[in-house]
Amino acid sequence: MAMKRLLLLLKPFGVSPQPSHTHPQVLDFLNNRHKVHRDSINFCQEILRKKPVEWKAVLRDNLTQRINDVDLVVTIGGDGTLLQASHLVDDKIPILGVNSDPTRIDEVEQFSGEFDATRSTGHLCSATVENFEQVLDSILEGRVAPSELTRMRISVNGLHLSTYALNDVLVAHPCPASLSRFSFRITKEDQPCSPQVNCRSSGLRISTAAGSTAAMHSAGGFPMSISSRDLQYMVREPISPAAVSDFMHGLIKHDEKMNATWTCRKGVIYIDGSHINYTIQDGDIIEISSKAPSLKVFLPHRLLQLAKM
Ligand SMILES: *[C@@H]1O[C@H](CO)[C@@H](O)[C@H](O)[C@H]1NC(C)=O
Ligand SMILES: *[C@@H]1O[C@H](CO)[C@@H](O)[C@H](O)[C@H]1NC(C)=O
Ligand SMILES: *[C@@H]1O[C@H](CO)[C@@H](O)[C@H](O)[C@H]1NC(C)=O
Repeated sequence: MAMKRLLLLLKPFGVSPQPSHTHPQVLDFLNNRHKVHRDSINFCQEILRKKPVEWKAVLRDNLTQRINDVDLVVTIGGDGTLLQASHLVDDKIPILGVNSDPTRIDEVEQFSGEFDATRSTGHLCSATVENFEQVLDSILEGRVAPSELTRMRISVNGLHLSTYALNDVLVAHPCPASLSRFSFRITKEDQPCSPQVNCRSSGLRISTAAGSTAAMHSAGGFPMSISSRDLQYMVREPISPAAVSDFMHGLIKHDEKMNATWTCRKGVIYIDGSHINYTIQDGDIIEISSKAPSLKVFLPHRLLQLAKM
């Protein structure tokens, strides 16, 4: 299929730092990040002007409608921009992520005693300005195919939420210091494959393979092969005696689902970060499975290589 129509989805520039409140070194760093991001956008647009494609650029926050009528979405930012694009596309339109301002290891080391000089994370991004034209050409000429990433479908009391999660879902009390109470069971074709587990904890996190290297990994979970269709779940900071249970951390196989019942007054389901959230209440039944439309992404070589191992 020839790719003719492209949509560029841009990470916003954010608010300018307040000079009076910020250390001069940090201010220089933040201003430089602005400039590098802007230069990357201009660079990619210059390249696109030379290609036989129609394209338009939209700031990611300006886009609320689902994306239709394009053959490829190019995100320019980091993983956050790619995640935001993923919520607006079906299982047909592929995404290419461009990391506009990659973290520089030497810079992080140089400033480690002063501040955190981490720039954008682009785990799922296969391009930077360095290789953008090369990667774009290989896509436009049909020399590379996108990978299909598993997404999660979440339903509350039998109704599917409209957003599919690409990275992870967190179900927790809206106040981080408050206890979350819930019970869950893993089922397959409506038959239980685990006992009912009753938990008091800081909540529940479930990730896809793509998200297993993000918050799940920070929490002590294991990285999964990017091509896996299983999900990984972890009860956050469980309170004993349930904590001794073998079921605090594990997999939800691709043909299984998790059936959880929320048993405290307030709760929130967060999808891929904090911006997409749904309020839940006592007695709500939440089902989580990988039975969602997959997402096509042109992945970086390093991830594809790991998947083969
Ligand atoms: C985004 O929306 C703002 C306000 O509606 C508008 O001024 C701006 O031109 C838009 N920019 C892009 C790139 O979509
Ligand atoms: C999910 O849990 C609820 C409440 O415990 C129960 O009524 C329902 O039958 C369960 N569904 C499945 C598929 O096990
Ligand atoms: C839910 O998302 C909205 C919109 O992004 C945000 O303003 C709000 O703070 C979030 N709510 C919670 C409880 O995190």
